[in-house]
Parts: sequence; structure tokens; C-alpha cells
Amino acid sequence: MSAAPPLTPALRDSRFLRACRREAVDATPVWLMRQAGRYMKEYRDVRARVPFKEMCTRPELAAEVTVTAARRIGADAAILFSDILLVLESMGARVDYEGGDGPQVAEGVSAAADVDRLRPADPEALACVYDAARQCRAALPPDVPLIGFCGAPFTLAAYLVEGRGAREALRTKILMWTDRGAWGALMDKLVDSLAPYLARQIAAGAQAVQIFDSWVGALSPADYREYVLPWSRRLVKSVPEGVPVIHFGLGTGLFLDALREAGGAVVGVDHRTDLDAAWAALGDVAVQGNLDPAALLADRNTVVNRARAVVAAAKGRRGHIFNLGHGILKETPVDNVVALVDAVHSMTRR
Ligand code: CP3
Repeated sequence: MSAAPPLTPALRDSRFLRACRREAVDATPVWLMRQAGRYMKEYRDVRARVPFKEMCTRPELAAEVTVTAARRIGADAAILFSDILLVLESMGARVDYEGGDGPQVAEGVSAAADVDRLRPADPEALACVYDAARQCRAALPPDVPLIGFCGAPFTLAAYLVEGRGAREALRTKILMWTDRGAWGALMDKLVDSLAPYLARQIAAGAQAVQIFDSWVGALSPADYREYVLPWSRRLVKSVPEGVPVIHFGLGTGLFLDALREAGGAVVGVDHRTDLDAAWAALGDVAVQGNLDPAALLADRNTVVNRARAVVAAAKGRRGHIFNLGHGILKETPVDNVVALVDAVHSMTRR
């Protein structure tokens, strides 16, 4: 296991990292999943000139949108601008973002035999991501941590098998149930690709990482434990000592205990889950969440009232990181986001 670079005092004492460690904070830290995205004019201006993949692979552009978004909304952490599917290309698949209808993955896994064709990613193939992390770290305010990220092994396996995002993950389940050997080999290759990828993001300037298991809610708790947990756990364990892992899954309200067992200093809770009940059951762990992203489409009063309900559900426990329950919607007015961040800070100021 590699060591993380030492933290500056400003980063170590930042609200976000203090909350990850469940220490007292002066106000609840806030950041929003997909905070650098199409709802923001600054993002659309860059995107109008450059295809999405190019934005991800040109470090100066990725860093610009990361830093601009965090500053514009006053977030307590910045998330590296990239995408969970980029790593699949360095494993031998092709990813297309331009077709509309969400990203498409070609040359993935249509039969068990295809698993052999995939190779563990060469971590150096993603050097552009580490360069972006380095540039972000240099440009961000000294007390705003940078969050690196990757997709969880299950979610990436589902993209490889389905060829796109698929809520029910039907073909993925069939592979997993019918060919345990191929499934294990696929999940192993993903973890072997993701562990060095996260480690290098951290070495380059990320102070925390989030693992996105966006499609795992298709599974039952028992299937999660049997077919996913061991690999997610291996990935979380690979993260250098002292670097908080935020473990987020969508639709995991019924097996958050298993998600927690897989590891992570912070458990991400989606907006269909009762935050208070979930946290009471989880016990001693930091929790991130869980405003419904739709709330940001409402009027200002509603935004603030819905935010207050999330803060109330956290009950002043240490280790709350305010976020949405899933990514920000592209129709979101940016002024509502700014108002949300301000409101959460002022309603939780201690
Ligand atoms: O959070 C951030 O601001 C950082 C950047 C980020 C992106 N994707 C940028 C992006 C992050 C953390 C992701 C993660 C990601 N990507 C996930 C997990 C989170 C989740 O939403 O569940 C998933 C499933 C993907 C795969 C993916 N990439 C999808 C489904 C899409 C289409 C999204 C959409 O809203 O149309 C993408 C493309 C993508 N990734 C965009 C952005 C800003 C939109 C691209 C565009 O400008 O056209």
C-alpha cells in the first residue's frame, strides 16, 4: 500500500476532511455530486467548443471546470472533473459519449470469453487525469480538498456487459449468476485497474476519493454480499492509509450495512433513503447526503426548507457531509445551488 502525501494544515483542518474523520466542524461541509456539469454556464461554454472526452483528457480544461464550479457555488470540496468510464478504454473497451442517450460502451463483455480479452488498465494511460488532479490542487484555495473518484467494480462491470447504463442490469445478473469464474475474473480485473488509478489520483493531489456504485441498487442484499462486496472491499482496502473513502451507491437503502462492511470512512446515502434511520442503523461512520436533486428545481423557499429537513435528519451528529442523494440535474438554476450552499452553512453554523 502506498502512502498519501502529507496534508498541509489548511487541508487537514478543512471542514470537509474534519467531517470525514467525524470531528467537530464550524459548519456542515457541502459539495454536490456532478457539481461541475451542464447546469453551469461556465461548463457549457467550454463544452460548446470541445467534445466531452476531450474535456476529460485535457488537464487544463478538466482543472478549469473543476475549480470554477467549486468556487462558483462556494463548495467545501471540489470533485475532479472526469468520468467513471474513462478507465474502461485503457482496459480495451471503447466509450462513446457523443451519441446522445448517455454513454455507450463497445467491445465490452458480450460473452464470458470476452473477459479474457480485457486487460487490467495501465495506470500510466490515464496520466492526463493525474495531471488534472495536480493542476486542480495547485489552483484550489488551500482549504478546499480535492476529491478523486472512480466507478465501483459492479457499476463498471455493468457498463461493460450492458454496453450502456441499464437500471435492471439484466445481462449483468445472468453473467454473475451463471458463470462465477468469469464474473470473478471480470471483477478482479476491474479492481486491479482501479486500485492503482485511485492511488495515483491521491499521489497527484486528491485528499479523498469517492467510489460511485451507481447501478448496484439493481441487486438484492444477498446478491450484493455474494457478488459485489468482496471486490468493493478489496478496492476500498487498497486506498492509502488515512485517505477517506466515500462509498456511494444509488438504491442501496436496503443494504447500507453491507456497503458499510465493504468499507469507507463515509457512506453516501441517496435521497430515497431516510437519512436519520439509515445513520442510526449504520452507527459510527460519517454520512454523506441526501437532498433530492429535484429540490433544486423548486423555488428558493422550498430549496431551503428541503435542505433544513436533511440537516434536521442528521441531528447534529458529527460526520455529516451535506450533498444531494444523486447527481445535480442539468435543469438546475445555478443561483439555487449557491443559495443552497449558503443556507446549509448558515443553518449549521456553530
Ligand atoms: O461530479 C462531478 O462534477 C465530476 C465529474 C463527473 C462526471 N461523471 C462528469 C460527467 C463524475 C463524478 C461522473 C461520474 C459518473 N459518470 C457516474 C457516477 C455518478 C452517477 O451519476 O451515478 C456515472 C454513472 C457516469 C457515466 C456517465 N457519464 C453518464 C451516465 C453520463 C451522462 C450523464 C448525463 O447527465 O447525460 C456521463 C457523461 C458526463 N459525465 C457528463 C458529465 C458532466 C455530461 C457530459 C456532457 O457534457 O454531455
